[in-house]
This record gives sequence, C-alpha cells and structure tokens, in this order.
Amino acid sequence: MNTSVELCGVTLKNPVMTASGTFGSGAEYSEFTDLNRLGAVVTKGVANVPWPGNPTPRVAEVYGGMLNAVGLQNPGIDLFCERDIPFLKKYDTKIIVNVCGHSTEEYVEVVKRLAEEPVDMLEINISCPNVKEGGIAFGSCPKAITKEMKKYAKQPVIMKLSPNVTDITEMARAAEAGGTDALSLINTITGMKIDINRRKFVLANKTGGMSGPAIHPVAVRMVYQTAQAVKIPIIGMGGIMNAADAIEMILAGATAVSVGTANFQNPAVTMEIVEGIERYMEKYHVSDIKELIGAVSE
Ligand SMILES: Cc1cc2nc3c(=O)[nH]c(=O)nc-3n(C[C@H](O)[C@H](O)[C@H](O)COP(=O)(O)O)c2cc1C
Repeated sequence: MNTSVELCGVTLKNPVMTASGTFGSGAEYSEFTDLNRLGAVVTKGVANVPWPGNPTPRVAEVYGGMLNAVGLQNPGIDLFCERDIPFLKKYDTKIIVNVCGHSTEEYVEVVKRLAEEPVDMLEINISCPNVKEGGIAFGSCPKAITKEMKKYAKQPVIMKLSPNVTDITEMARAAEAGGTDALSLINTITGMKIDINRRKFVLANKTGGMSGPAIHPVAVRMVYQTAQAVKIPIIGMGGIMNAADAIEMILAGATAVSVGTANFQNPAVTMEIVEGIERYMEKYHVSDIKELIGAVSE
C-alpha cells in the first residue's frame, strides 16, 4: 500500500500534517504525537520580529468548534531559526514554515531569511482574520503578494487562502496566476460571541476565527470548487476531526490535509488519522492513495 503523496516536488510519506497554530515550537506537541509518523509539520506563523499577539481573552468554545483571536503571537524569525528548526530537524518528517507579516516587506524579510534554512516549503498566511494589516487585506488580492513571495523564496510556496471572501475560486486563480506552487485552504471563518450576562464580547478582539467540525462542510465545498478551478495541488483543512473527514477532503480534491482544532481535544489525533486512512485503503482495496485525490463522482 502506498500512502505517499507528491507536493510541489517534495515527497510526503503520507498526506497528514498539522495545521498552523496547533503547536508553538513543536516540543510540547511531540510529547503526545510521534512527529516521525506525519507527512509534514506546519509551524505556527512566524514574523520578522516577535509579536505579542492580541489581548486576552483570545479563545472561546462555541457549538461545533472554537473561536480564536490569538493574533499570531510568535517568537520572531531569529529565535525560530535558532530554536525551532533544529528541534524539528530531529524528526523524519517534512517542515513547512507558516509565514506572517503586516506588510509585503515584512513577509519578504522572513522569506529571505528562510532561504538558507533546511525547511521544505513555505506556507504564506495572507488570510488571518485577527491581524489588522497583512491578513484580510492581502487575502483579498493575492496575485501581487504571491509574485513577491516567488521572487525571493528558495522553497516551494503555498499560499493560504481566506474563506472570508465572496468567491474562493477567484482568490485561488489569482494566487495561481501569481505563480504559487500550491494552495492551502481554509483558514478560519470570522465569528463573534457575546456574553449575555455581562453584555460584553467574549473575546477582547470582539471577533475571532471559527475553526473545528462545524466549518468542515464549508471547507470541503471550497476545496472541491478550488480543485475544479486550478491545476496546482491543494492542502485541505477545516474541521478535520478523524480519518473519515480527511478522506472526504482528499476525495474533494486535496493532495494533503492539515489538522488543527482536533488536536486540542485529542493530541494524538493526527496519528489516528494516518492509521484510519490506511484501514480505509485496505477495506476498499486502494493500493495507492493518489487514486483517491479528487475521486468524488456524481
Ligand atoms: C489557535 C489557532 C491558531 C492558529 N494559528 C494560525 C497561524 O498562525 N497561521 C495560520 O495560517 N493559520 C492559523 N490557524 C488556522 C488553522 O491553521 C486552520 O486553517 C483552521 O483552524 C481550520 O482548521 P481546523 O478546523 O482543523 O482548526 C490557527 C487556528 C487556531 C485554532
């Protein structure tokens, strides 16, 4: 049975990866999950300098998932290169670094700094709903920023798209026209929660990004539509809680899948998803996982 997939010329041993934001340096996560078992790890977003993130409270539980407005708190690229990359290099898995910034210049600084680092791919987060500049503003016109990233990146570039747009395929085509090697979708869907007793917003940021199982059908639909619209590979994410959800995403057209919120409930979930995909392949006599990519039919 072959579970390996090709993503922008990089071979992943299986299509399962963590979603950005699941862990910080990786050290705490590796206590629960054998990172050697995963196709790739995607890091938390890293910027040119340390970011403190948003004021608290910045996470809240909601029906079918959670809201977060962490605001891309991160240690900055220097500490990241010194501490986090060497840590992740100890494992037999691919490293995808998620990059964030407030301006094109800030993104470029991080991408240039990563050029000589032993990382496999860059995921460019142009879609965070919780930062004022850099997120949504770029997310709604991805062609120009994609071109800039491609100018300086030494590794394959994956543009991460926002679902908070009218037409996801328009965004996907624009990023493809800008030269991206792959796409990641979806980031969180903007939401809000109000504490009726205090008559106040639950999150200090007022709004937050919704993630978890309730957004899964939206993500499957967007991955499917995007797969019809572009030729480049897609990493599908959004509410994947188990192997069935991951397989659904692959059938919709994803070459690989990322798992985020489910890790907060069960930190061993990614390994269980790898095993569940293997069981599914056995049951349906699928010898190569590539047969499943986009294999949904009417
Ligand atoms: C607490 C938290 C932090 C996140 N941080 C990032 C981030 O730094 N960069 C990014 O591109 N996406 C980030 N995301 C979005 C996830 O990577 C993912 O796109 C989204 O949560 C949908 O997947 P899920 O439902 O499996 O969590 C974060 C999500 C959560 C819940």
